Amino acid sequence: MPEIPNIPLGGRSRAWAVALCLSASPVATLEAQASLCTGPESRLGPSRDLYCVELVPAVGMRGAGRVELGRTPGPFTVDVSADGHLRYTPAFTLSGLAQPESLGRYTAYVAWVASPTLDVIQRLGVVDNGRTVLPPIALDKFLILITAESSGAATEMRGRLVLRGMSPSARLLPPDFMQFVLGSTRDDSSGGHEHHMPGRSDSLAWTMVPMPAGISMLPAEMTLRPNVAPYLPRTANTDSLPLARPRQLVRLTSGDTLRLTAGIVRRLFKGRTLTLFAFNGQYPGPLLEVAQGAEVTVELTNALDQPTTVHWHGIRLDNRFDGVPDLTQRAVAPGERFVYHLRFPDAGIYWYHPHVREDVQQDLGLYGNVMVRSARRDYFSPANREEVLMLDDLLLGDDGLVPFGATTTTHALMGRFGNVMLVNGEPRYALTVSRGEVVRFFLTNVSNTRTFNLSFPGARMKVVASDVGNYEREEWVESVVIAPAERYVIHVRFDRPGDVPFVNRVRGLDHLYGRFFSETDTLGVVRVGAGVSKPNLAESFATLRADTAVGVDVGRFREYMSRPADKALVLTMEANDLPFFSRQIMQLDSIYFTPVEWSGTMPGMNWAATGDEVRWILRDPATGKENMDIDWTFHRGDVVKLRLVNERRSFHGMQHPIHIHGQRFLVLAVNDVPNTNLVWKDTVLLPAGATADILLDLTNPGRWMLHCHIAEHLSAHMMMAFTVQ
Ligand code: C2O
Ligand code: CU
Repeated sequence: MPEIPNIPLGGRSRAWAVALCLSASPVATLEAQASLCTGPESRLGPSRDLYCVELVPAVGMRGAGRVELGRTPGPFTVDVSADGHLRYTPAFTLSGLAQPESLGRYTAYVAWVASPTLDVIQRLGVVDNGRTVLPPIALDKFLILITAESSGAATEMRGRLVLRGMSPSARLLPPDFMQFVLGSTRDDSSGGHEHHMPGRSDSLAWTMVPMPAGISMLPAEMTLRPNVAPYLPRTANTDSLPLARPRQLVRLTSGDTLRLTAGIVRRLFKGRTLTLFAFNGQYPGPLLEVAQGAEVTVELTNALDQPTTVHWHGIRLDNRFDGVPDLTQRAVAPGERFVYHLRFPDAGIYWYHPHVREDVQQDLGLYGNVMVRSARRDYFSPANREEVLMLDDLLLGDDGLVPFGATTTTHALMGRFGNVMLVNGEPRYALTVSRGEVVRFFLTNVSNTRTFNLSFPGARMKVVASDVGNYEREEWVESVVIAPAERYVIHVRFDRPGDVPFVNRVRGLDHLYGRFFSETDTLGVVRVGAGVSKPNLAESFATLRADTAVGVDVGRFREYMSRPADKALVLTMEANDLPFFSRQIMQLDSIYFTPVEWSGTMPGMNWAATGDEVRWILRDPATGKENMDIDWTFHRGDVVKLRLVNERRSFHGMQHPIHIHGQRFLVLAVNDVPNTNLVWKDTVLLPAGATADILLDLTNPGRWMLHCHIAEHLSAHMMMAFTVQ
């Protein structure tokens, strides 16, 4: 940063000078962002309460301002470091500041970010009246301080404090005495929530939900139980059930028929026998591989104890084979069959799962991948090997699987977080490679609610593709943020011998003590041998390739990108009949919502909330209609810009991975910051209080679903349908 000379500079021009040395291209970004924290607040805009910091003058000082906690455009909808810290690009808008010279021997204003206890103080850069974008902030809770300094190059805060503000997350404080009193009181007004379920001879009963390490629960929270009968798959004789086998690769060519049976299996798991579900006895289900453009038949047989269907997630197939009960087909009753005719117009990595009680059926193991291969031999840049990984988590208590709700979902607030991480159904994934190998990983998140932040510490990684094909350009990333149902294809090069862990690193939030903490889940390990891999792909790996075909395809939609949104959807929720205790605590907790709840740190309250008490909502702000009452009609060939607004002022605000069936879309902007590297998607993660603008390419006629892919939110009504004529 050049020293700012002691001459009066127009605030605006200095702002541009600072912005331009950060990056060559964010001009459009800056303009678009200008309204996030200034001007009249839009009902359908990002939450100022979560993404703006108000600056107030120190005693005797003049001036005021706001800081936008902005986003740097990137391949994911949240910007997060490999160790899990959310990263914000601050944009300062200041006014009314006097000349620094008028305050003493000062020449410039400098902005700093500090932890609340001031044990960390980092220089952000020089600011002045007008708008200035400075380098990212990656602290859980922080203060923003602006001081007058004798030099704009000051590296230590020495001068006079002029303006200060506090991050929205800093509002989280340990609860006061009253909350403890409230929390430690048994909640006798909610007797209905504690009773035992009568009428079951097999005496399956709710016990306590497992407690995550390091998280405390208040006594009243510990007495909560879901107000629904518990369910686990049972058969007369568990020992006669087949043992689940590992997934097999099934290559299908046009005209082939695959028989797929959804059935009950047994798995030995950490010394216990679990009764689970599986397709064809495999866990995960068979990995299907087809050529782009192929047409195949799948005959589904339902050997479960409940109705089911199969949805082919992300595939633009015929509507009547989309697998949505009561919308595209009747649910397949136990013992019955259904024949799916599938076509695969787009290359990419897809997956299949039931569309009946996903919170139960998918969680019990009914999921598999579909790999659709492009005919282009250079579709991907080179790799030494491919690994297709399905990421999941399972919730185990002392007696095995924590039961599900029989007639409605449990965990209706935040979704069912598991406590055992699974890669392809295994708690310990291992891969052995030679030194220098480039591995192409196809990642699919099939968990009910968990968003992962994945990395291989020490290995370089680039993201290549997502849900429906390649990015316009490959991009270096330090971690992959993958929400339920999303897919990412990454290339990773392992160039040092030794063990490289495959980790999920996030910041958990202890709501009771108002503090953030580190969580690391090790999903597996890559053993890198000393022998050098052949062929050596160092050079092609070092180059970021552009996919010109994607560029051309996406380019056809440029003209639509800047136009105003055609439709909007507000994401919110309603709670009825929640226990008094849960209501009170949730109210206190709503002082701040973290953009992403990475883990389940309100285990009791979350578990006990059912789909009968919680209603998650998609609302059309134009008509006020909600969920399945919304009935949008479009025409084939329409290109529709849809604004998704994740309402901050709801009873509980959190992220939602929104999935649209049968079509594809581009994520144009998040919190009004345009994306600069596009990819076709079928699922987009919307952080709490955030907005996303997506461009829907409506090519596929039929009646299709749009819903949240958190299984418990879907089971708690967060879905709608639209028609393409
Ligand atoms: Cu993968 Cu309707 O969902
Ligand atoms: Cu949701």
